[in-house]
Amino acid sequence: MKAIVVTDQAAGTAGMKLVERPEPPAAINDVIVQIHASGFVPTELAWPSTWTDRRDRDRTPSIPGHELAGVVTALGYGTTGLSVGQRVFGLADWHRDGTLAEYVAIEARNLAPLPGDVDFTVGASLPISGLTAWQGLFQHGRLQAGQSVLAHGAAGAVGSIVMQLAREAGVIGTGRAADRQKALDFGAQEFVDLDNDALEDVGGIDLVFDVIGGDIQKRSAGLIRAGGTLVSIVGPTEARPADGLAVDFVVESDRAQLSEIVQRVRDGRLRTNIGNVSALDDAVATFNATERRAGKTVIRVRP
Ligand SMILES: NC(=O)c1ccc[n+]([C@@H]2O[C@H](COP(=O)([O-])OP(=O)(O)OC[C@H]3O[C@@H](n4cnc5c(N)ncnc54)[C@H](OP(=O)(O)O)[C@@H]3O)[C@@H](O)[C@H]2O)c1
Repeated sequence: MKAIVVTDQAAGTAGMKLVERPEPPAAINDVIVQIHASGFVPTELAWPSTWTDRRDRDRTPSIPGHELAGVVTALGYGTTGLSVGQRVFGLADWHRDGTLAEYVAIEARNLAPLPGDVDFTVGASLPISGLTAWQGLFQHGRLQAGQSVLAHGAAGAVGSIVMQLAREAGVIGTGRAADRQKALDFGAQEFVDLDNDALEDVGGIDLVFDVIGGDIQKRSAGLIRAGGTLVSIVGPTEARPADGLAVDFVVESDRAQLSEIVQRVRDGRLRTNIGNVSALDDAVATFNATERRAGKTVIRVRP
């Protein structure tokens, strides 16, 4: 099969190569998915799991990409819940070969059915940003009706989903000046331009959803009211609210949450933030483009 591999961590996306690789076998509880579309988060190349297995042994050449939408072509020993020919989407294991390939072996529990009226490109754009937004708001942030949310990077892949899922609570988005309209379009009630507006003018926040870290995170912790929560997706929290919780987490696949997310897409409550769609043959060039790209890049593996 065709697949993109990486072997050299220092090379970054410039080290990505499109090569021929053997098709993966299905292990216990796996399915093999013929990939139609794949998502890729550029920061993956900095994650240890891209380079090593769970015992920290080198696993290169590894195939990056963790989001997928496609069709089940084979089932491993003992696999239940999915069938050959079924349309699926989901989030692949961080430590296994990923989804920038024609086929992937993936545990069935990491997948959900993809309804027939949802395009594979849309399906592949949802797992990481959708599940991260969902888990950050509702699972780790325990967002309740009537609470206020401040979410950074509101025009980004995760942030734009956070805006839409938190809209009912009332959400303030942040980002760069150029992202104001996009953040408002995705549902932000207000927008704070982090370069020009005073973040400190915002107060009484119940939940901060941080995708940036560093100084922005430290300043945000001071805006959280008693009993509130700082949720970070960019590593261990560097600050804690004076009288609240600080949580950092890595997104996990969850079939029920994937199904909730895709249902919202179908009924028009959720819109994905796709910036660019490229073929697998063009993917390396796409990931190495120098201009700033807004929204998610999805690789269409099968036309
Ligand atoms: N823990 C997890 O499970 C998990 C899951 C998903 C993502 N992540 C991480 O979360 C981060 C965001 O992911 P994403 O996919 O949403 O990325 P993204 O699409 O690039 O969105 C990030 C947004 O934040 C903006 N931003 C970043 N730094 C800023 C700053 N200093 N001031 C103003 N705006 C700033 C970006 O603007 P520019 O594009 O102009 O920089 C962009 O609009 C990444 O580091 C990713 O690795 C973690």
